Amino acid sequence: MILGKTIYGYNYEVLLNKGVVLTDAYIKLLKNRGFIRIYIDDNETADIVLKDPISEKIRIMSTKDIFKTYQVTRSSLADIEADTAESIIKCINTPKVKKSFQESPAFKQLCNDINYFIDEIMNQDILSGLNSIKSFDNYTYEHSIDTAVISLIIGKRLFLEKDKMVQMAIGEFLHDIGKIFINEKIINKPGKLTADEFDLVKQHPIYGYELLKDLQKIGTTSAHIPYQHHERQDGTGYPRGLKGTNKLDNKGVAYSEQEKMVMIAEIAALADVYDACSSDRPYRPGLPPDIVYELIKSGAGSQFNKELVDCFLSVVPKYPVGCEIRIKDGMYTDFRGVVSSLNMYELSKPKVRLLQDDKGKKINHVEIDFSSQGVCTEIECIR
Ligand SMILES: [Fe+2]
Ligand SMILES: [Fe+2]
Repeated sequence: MILGKTIYGYNYEVLLNKGVVLTDAYIKLLKNRGFIRIYIDDNETADIVLKDPISEKIRIMSTKDIFKTYQVTRSSLADIEADTAESIIKCINTPKVKKSFQESPAFKQLCNDINYFIDEIMNQDILSGLNSIKSFDNYTYEHSIDTAVISLIIGKRLFLEKDKMVQMAIGEFLHDIGKIFINEKIINKPGKLTADEFDLVKQHPIYGYELLKDLQKIGTTSAHIPYQHHERQDGTGYPRGLKGTNKLDNKGVAYSEQEKMVMIAEIAALADVYDACSSDRPYRPGLPPDIVYELIKSGAGSQFNKELVDCFLSVVPKYPVGCEIRIKDGMYTDFRGVVSSLNMYELSKPKVRLLQDDKGKKINHVEIDFSSQGVCTEIECIR
């Protein structure tokens, strides 16, 4: 097997280069590091284009910016002992912590580089491929990048102005930074959290807000992404149980923000759930993309802003390119293959390439275009 995409380690050093032959030792190394799935190059799918909305160069640059901003903020916490929410908030607002974050070269670099990130997204209309297979050994930072990618693609569809896009990107890059003020053992706990532990984790939006709230140059809107990304439309979210009912204005291009949740945080809430549910973690594989798609769809109105869900469904395909699928009915029942390309006019009707029959035996390729008349077979994503 040939590795299809370069894999990076914790400090963004190259672990394995694209094109390397995967030996047993390499496979073991990847498994030990918690990689559940990776990209493989093979002849049968070599022509399928897996397009990342951002270039590898910008992805690495932005991931490093987030990484360094986290590091510098974390290092300012040395010798500080704060164990209650009140004392942690007090500590975040001390000049030592605030300044080391806001005035750090790392954060300044992040604010600068964000423009390149947005420029690349402005050339994208949809999220065509899988964002669930992570190529970095560090979930937090890549999750932050991928939620920003989804949010900005939605923002572009809504014709948001550049300054809104910048605020959204900064807020998304740092939406979970509040977690550095919570015991790492709880944050990285593989299994289910106890009620007490979850209560502690639920403070991370507040901590993130406290850290970002007085960024004069960028504006305070960014801080509302960390603050509100776990709020839900019906008020069942945390930390404040806010409700959200923003409506598109009559031109369909902007949102009024008189309501309680700010619109960019409503976008963030949706992008956060989509990426978190579909991503692999060392202790569990991500949910298949079609399941996550339905999850978001069914949350319209109660969990997520209804109009934003409609927008989301128009930019994120149910069956992304590169996704493995199984045919559910008809003459090809139980045949398996991959999504080979999308139909831009009907995102939920892709082209698929069948590679195996119902017994799992390799077959000569069969291409099915689900947008063609008369094709009414059903498919599902498989792991
Ligand atoms: Fe979060
Ligand atoms: Fe998150």
